[in-house]
Amino acid sequence: VNSWGRIFRISLWGESHGPAVGVLLDGCPAGLPLTADAFAADLSRRKSGLSGTSARQEGDRPLIKSGMFNDQTTGAPILIEFPNADVDSAPYEKIKDTPRPGHADWTAHEKFHGHNDYRGGGHFSGRLTVGLVAAGVIAKKIIQPARVQAQILEIGGQGEYQAALERAAAGGDSLGGIVECRVAQVPVGLGEPFFDAAESLIAHIVWAIPGIMGLEFGAGFASARMAGSEFNDELVEAAGKTATNHTGGCNGGITNGNELVFRVAIKPTASIARPQKTINLRTGAPEQIRIEGRHDACIALRMPVVLEAATAIVLADLLLLRRAMNHEQ
Ligand SMILES: Cc1cc2nc3c(=O)[nH]c(=O)nc-3n(C[C@H](O)[C@H](O)[C@H](O)COP(=O)(O)O)c2cc1C
Repeated sequence: VNSWGRIFRISLWGESHGPAVGVLLDGCPAGLPLTADAFAADLSRRKSGLSGTSARQEGDRPLIKSGMFNDQTTGAPILIEFPNADVDSAPYEKIKDTPRPGHADWTAHEKFHGHNDYRGGGHFSGRLTVGLVAAGVIAKKIIQPARVQAQILEIGGQGEYQAALERAAAGGDSLGGIVECRVAQVPVGLGEPFFDAAESLIAHIVWAIPGIMGLEFGAGFASARMAGSEFNDELVEAAGKTATNHTGGCNGGITNGNELVFRVAIKPTASIARPQKTINLRTGAPEQIRIEGRHDACIALRMPVVLEAATAIVLADLLLLRRAMNHEQ
């Protein structure tokens, strides 16, 4: 079901071309200073408009419907709504019987027996991440002084990616990328093994973000080629600081106080303007489509702030869980 978290609990709702999308957030502590303006910086980092992103222009001004009073959280559920204003569904009417390769059109159609809203990808649109980012703004406050920061490492296999991106977009194609997320000043002791290990929860929420294809913590897949003598992070301070950080900030699913570090691989955007083969849902016959409409040439461009939000949400939930379970000294 579409909700996540044990105490800091979020539900994402809406469809790309419906009236609105948003987030319902429960379990937020009361008395947290919060104004509508606090959301602006992160929301603008997720917006489209830059080179390589969709031409869709949404205001993304949060309408806070509940849970805030006198510029503070009240402890009641917080409902934040983002109206969908810049909607053009015409290109989706043309391809409604011909699912886009690489997108969720076919699986959603099969699972929901054709009742899914196919316009703009419906509930499977990257637009749903606007609610995640809004919840992340609140989570980032809860986890202070811990600070989450994500950045693009490469796009299309290159650190200097602008030219490759422009070439791909001009040719009606798309590119994938790698984004790294780091959290500084993580408290020691977050994570409730076995199943609510810190990495497990991050993996759960990160993999729910549309377009994610890979995730590694610390040395990740490279650790399989290292010897123990090379890999082990030697302790150098009683507070838990280690000389290296190959595990990426967790041992046994519990944060060890070193930087939390993980990277994600993001696939090239499914909706490309080149001719592609698919099957017509009504006739069952093969068909060639060319996708029109407004799409990101590279999703990774908009991903850093989404990953930051997802990570902050996990850490906020784990902090509140640790408090509730009375593990604090
Ligand atoms: C911020 C963001 C923007 C996205 N923009 C697009 C887009 O313009 N076109 C597209 O085909 N997919 C886009 N996606 C990816 C699709 O939503 C995703 O590929 C689709 O829902 C299928 O899910 P999956 O890739 O996880 O299997 C975007 C994802 C995110 C997070």
